[in-house]
Amino acid sequence: MLTLAHVSDIHIDDSPRSVERTRAVMRHLENLPGPLDAVIVTGDIADHGSTEEYEVARELLASRHPTVLCPGNHDSRAAFRKVLLGQDGDGPVNQVLRLDGLTVALCDSSVPGRPEGLLEEETLVWLDSVLAESSQTPVIVGMHHPAVALGIPYVDGIGLREPERLEAVLRRHPQAVAVLAGHAHTPASTWFAGRPLLVAPGVINTALIPAEARERYPVDLDLPPQIALHVFAEGRLTTHIRPIV
Ligand SMILES: [Fe+2]
Repeated sequence: MLTLAHVSDIHIDDSPRSVERTRAVMRHLENLPGPLDAVIVTGDIADHGSTEEYEVARELLASRHPTVLCPGNHDSRAAFRKVLLGQDGDGPVNQVLRLDGLTVALCDSSVPGRPEGLLEEETLVWLDSVLAESSQTPVIVGMHHPAVALGIPYVDGIGLREPERLEAVLRRHPQAVAVLAGHAHTPASTWFAGRPLLVAPGVINTALIPAEARERYPVDLDLPPQIALHVFAEGRLTTHIRPIV
């Protein structure tokens, strides 16, 4: 059995709010009494993509657990890469984490300067090759942008473009067991390409669906930060949502 913490949308800026909420989440994960096999962070790490924000995020996200991260639409590839990964370059930031019995492949769905998502050809080729290399091992595929509409109009308007290209890759590889995403700031479960699509809650705030609020950008600032804990056992992923209070 493997347990994966899924953290998303910490949106570090110069306000205490983002730092305190992220610190509470990471303290919780660091102090868990049982085994945690990895921490997955699905983007929107820095609110404005600045070097200073990434330097704060790097300290906050430092963990005793293996950690894998991908950018979101608020991130800047070059600064993300430089500060969080110690690398140069501004191409897509695609990351793989190989655990004993499970591979996590995080794709860069960000489009520089744009809020919507897209998997570039380079990223789709990379994902296809990671899946081919892991043909005997289950793979969880993650990215920032959900590949389907979730019922929140302003989020759905900036979702993943051309999801059929991702679907074609996943359909070629039955060992791709689930898709993870962030971006929506709400814990949500749906399906895509015949797999579960699991959306992590946002650490910074919680988005509401139209039945819950009348505003155009309905966001609850009072709910506590939340995370998802994915348990992988016997080929099946089960998700537990936890508020961090
Ligand atoms: Fe976000």
